[in-house]
Amino acid sequence: MHRLEISLTQEARSSEINVGAGIRRNLGNLIPFKAPRRVGLISNERVFDLYGREVVRSLKSAGFKTITWLMPEGERYKSFRELEKAVNFLSENRFERDDLVMALGGGVVGDLAGFAAAIYLRGLRLVQVPTTLLSQIDSSVGGKTGINLVTGKNLVGAFHQPASVFIDTETLASLPPRELTSGFCEMVKQSLVAGETFFQMTVRVMQDAAGKREFLSSPEFEELIPAQCSFKASIVANDERESTNRSDTKSRRVLNFGHTTAHALETITNYRFFRHGEAVGYGMLVAGELSRNLGLIDAGELKQLRDAVSLCGPLPRADNLNLNQIIAALKHDKKSVGGQINWVLLEGIGRPRIVEGGLISAKSLRLSLRVGLKGLERQKASFH
Ligand SMILES: NC(=O)c1ccc[n+]([C@@H]2O[C@H](COP(=O)([O-])OP(=O)(O)OC[C@H]3O[C@@H](n4cnc5c(N)ncnc54)[C@H](O)[C@@H]3O)[C@@H](O)[C@H]2O)c1
Repeated sequence: MHRLEISLTQEARSSEINVGAGIRRNLGNLIPFKAPRRVGLISNERVFDLYGREVVRSLKSAGFKTITWLMPEGERYKSFRELEKAVNFLSENRFERDDLVMALGGGVVGDLAGFAAAIYLRGLRLVQVPTTLLSQIDSSVGGKTGINLVTGKNLVGAFHQPASVFIDTETLASLPPRELTSGFCEMVKQSLVAGETFFQMTVRVMQDAAGKREFLSSPEFEELIPAQCSFKASIVANDERESTNRSDTKSRRVLNFGHTTAHALETITNYRFFRHGEAVGYGMLVAGELSRNLGLIDAGELKQLRDAVSLCGPLPRADNLNLNQIIAALKHDKKSVGGQINWVLLEGIGRPRIVEGGLISAKSLRLSLRVGLKGLERQKASFH
């Protein structure tokens, strides 16, 4: 088992991340709090049917009393209505300040349960048990929680750091292929802004994994996950609240690499067409083209980026979308500051650079979108 500690110096708090194949069966003993406390387990039916009973059994044998609430499946349930049900569940069962909320599922469950934990009684301890690749390397780490509004995703939320994260790599075996692709895209994204050695290591493991699902619970893969979490944690520890006045390579903003275009693609398709990571896959291709057009990277570096995205798996078609609509959606990016989009681009593999939108011409943007959204022809070496 791998164990990491994130220290958030600003508020003298720390979070621990535990990674291991089969760890869900031993959760009760690993939780760093003493029983008897009560655990409000929030999950959805699919994930609970797969893994919930083992988790409850393990908590019970360690003396925790578990009460479960299952939310419906899907992004659209990251809503005020479901949040109200979640906090009512905690209240009706008389959860107290010393009790815990545990999120068992992907990023949707994690974000909603995390937000409920952040606001009920002004904050209960939170334990994340992420079960998708994306949530294991990204959403469960860093303390962002929240829900969507009809006007946009994740517009309401709170920073609430989990006390512990438990990552069981065995749960990846049941993930549908598109969810794996989505998680791999986020992995490539993180590695592209983390450093060249880390990028090469990520690509090497993904190449070894290509076509072999059993590889997902191998020791090699089990090492890549904490390395990814560790990188995200290092950024979060340095800039927990994503300061808008920072544009250095250690600011939390660099994690938005690929996300400017991704959010626009998700908005214009009403969040129904792309998995989030798939949209990020296209976002990276577009950011790569922009970086090349500005002369920040060379053709060889652009090829490395494209090959890495190609390894993630097939992306749904995007070259039939309306460019004018995409450009209009880009202008409303919620991460813009003073009406200005800040693009995270690359000035080398593993070297992010934040570039003001005003420095990118309308012509270069159009061209980059057109080429990037064409996608990749050859995806044979992908994971599936
Ligand atoms: N808080 C953050 O920092 C952060 C970061 C990135 C993304 N997010 C959020 O995360 C969400 C996306 O998360 P996601 O990609 O995990 O999607 P998701 O939570 O919708 O899960 C994807 C699907 O996989 C199913 N599933 C989960 N685990 C499974 C398993 N082990 N086996 C089989 N099926 C399983 C789910 O029921 C769901 O149908 C978005 O709402 C996004 O906004 C948050």
